[in-house]
Amino acid sequence: MLDIQNLSIRFTRYTFGLKKKEVCIVRSLDLSVSTGQVMAVIGQSGAGKSLLAHALLGILPRNARIEGRVFFKGQPLTPERQSAIRGREIALIPQSVTYLNPLLRVGVQVARAARLSGINQKDVPATVSRAFARYLLQKKVAAWFPFQLSGGMARRVLTATATVGMADLILADEPTSGLDPITAREALGHLRELANTGKAVLLITHDIETALQVADMVTVFCAGTTVEVARADDFKGLGHLRHPYTRALWAALPTNSFIGTMKPIERTSDTGGCPFRLCCNDQDAVCGQSVPELKQAGEGWVRCHHA
Ligand SMILES: Nc1ncnc2c1ncn2[C@@H]1O[C@H](COP(=O)(O)OP(=O)(O)OP(=O)(O)O)[C@@H](O)[C@H]1O
Ligand SMILES: [Mg+2]
Repeated sequence: MLDIQNLSIRFTRYTFGLKKKEVCIVRSLDLSVSTGQVMAVIGQSGAGKSLLAHALLGILPRNARIEGRVFFKGQPLTPERQSAIRGREIALIPQSVTYLNPLLRVGVQVARAARLSGINQKDVPATVSRAFARYLLQKKVAAWFPFQLSGGMARRVLTATATVGMADLILADEPTSGLDPITAREALGHLRELANTGKAVLLITHDIETALQVADMVTVFCAGTTVEVARADDFKGLGHLRHPYTRALWAALPTNSFIGTMKPIERTSDTGGCPFRLCCNDQDAVCGQSVPELKQAGEGWVRCHHA
């Protein structure tokens, strides 16, 4: 359904003296999602996860520059195609509730999303009611404005808005943040159901436990690049995980050793070595010489000189 090859996202920023500086936030990113699959993207805050979702929809700010290849349903995802299929074939559950229009009633917003996605006008009310029921939103909420919603309700409205239509690819950016555990599990269960009915889901989260509840595969992001793609089942034990960063994330889980051994990850401006090497306990001279290639390893992929 979606195939991303060697994607980079750069921003132009102004520094002191109004000098222009280019920063590379996402670099050499590879990722693919198939029909029927939930692909989780995990990585720490600032890794570039939301930017990836925005790049796929073509809604990055103007000072962003994108390189690389993205294919959706086998065809290149050009800016023209992005604006034609945004909300129709690719839908976003955004990370921030500020994406709701503050001046429109919630029901109107969900109905608009349903119409935009191609649902017949006469079927829209019933479709919206089903979406409200699915996300435990009472009927009266349809008449409310976003400021009247609690944080968790607003998140459920965003999820209802993105999933009400017929989009084939759902980009879910931290869809469970601010939800209580039961509602969060239901929201994740719904994403799983959508995948089971032939859609593809990109589940973006910084929380591995959330990801593992429903994902088939997990792509691990570190400093804006893919360092490992592993099966969700590989996270059952340390033995199948190949990258030191993934292993450190696994070890930090409360259900495992609960050990946080890693230094904060910093984006290095040089492109000469492994992006993770400054935080890696296993680094040696080879790690500084070149960026490791993404190598196939079993059913997954890994980017490490020593894997
Ligand atoms: N418009 C912009 N101009 C310059 N830098 C930006 C811009 N938008 C985002 N960034 C930078 O890109 C990096 C990645 O941002 P992004 O929002 O994708 O992170 P994230 O992985 O989604 O983090 P979180 O888990 O906290 O949501 C951040 O360091 C951020 O400062
Ligand atoms: Mg984000």
